[in-house]
Amino acid sequence: MTQMPASADLVLETRDMHMAFGGLVIFERMNFSLRRGERHAIIGPNGAGKTTFVSLVTGLLKPKSGAVMFEGRDVTRLSPQERVKAGMVRTFQINSLFRALNPLESVVLALLEREGKAHLSLRHVAAEKSLIGEAMELLHQFGLDRDAYALTEALPYGKQRLLEIVLALALRPKLLLLDEPAAGLSTQQGHEVFARLAHLPQETTILFIEHDMNLVFSYADVVSVFAAGALVLSDTPENVRKSPRVREVYLGN
Ligand SMILES: Nc1ncnc2c1ncn2[C@@H]1O[C@H](COP(=O)(O)OP(=O)(O)OP(=O)(O)O)[C@@H](O)[C@H]1O
Ligand SMILES: [Mg+2]
Repeated sequence: MTQMPASADLVLETRDMHMAFGGLVIFERMNFSLRRGERHAIIGPNGAGKTTFVSLVTGLLKPKSGAVMFEGRDVTRLSPQERVKAGMVRTFQINSLFRALNPLESVVLALLEREGKAHLSLRHVAAEKSLIGEAMELLHQFGLDRDAYALTEALPYGKQRLLEIVLALALRPKLLLLDEPAAGLSTQQGHEVFARLAHLPQETTILFIEHDMNLVFSYADVVSVFAAGALVLSDTPENVRKSPRVREVYLGN
């Protein structure tokens, strides 16, 4: 395994993170690191603990022992909301509130949240011209500007997935975490999602779980392989593809 030296470049680290659900041990000791600017994919078989890992990092779950470090700070005891404020954002599932709004309203609400102005009602938002401009720009980056005034729940599924990413980006994450952003999309739509992510500023670090190896090998610059409660390898896509051990545990097809 490639040893990553401790450095100020590390955005995320887990140190000896141990996790179990009752008697089911998910991670014995997970030591993982992520550098600033990486487009980092997590791959591995079903049930390997990929989603659990993201939940531990974002605070939805608490590890039994060990630590989660974000930008050099121990965040293990912070709530999910506190971690969002610190700059760690996972994609939202479109919820019932947002389904009844249009994408522009949803993004403006997320921007108001970020600016600590969530108490303003949408009626007063008209005065916040710069926020509306920023919301339209974000929608434009993800090809949703023409859908700004459409009913969210009436949007095609692919556009709803793009909107989830836009809502996360509205919070200006330093680290964006995506759990299978292309799930349920066509091959072409999956590539569109990743092509748009590829255009984000380099300082936005992206950690994504993905089963589609074409997407992983096209867009990741580091790939981590999870299997049987352990990090098997964290390396360049090329080295991961060549690794006999990885082929054995996952890419055997
Ligand atoms: N809340 C929970 N309570 C009990 N067991 C859980 C819980 N969440 C996940 N598990 C179990 O933990 C293991 C890891 O699940 P997880 O969802 O993290 O896997 P995954 O790698 O994301 O899989 P997939 O590729 O199918 O999404 C599985 O055996 C799962 O059944
Ligand atoms: Mg999962």
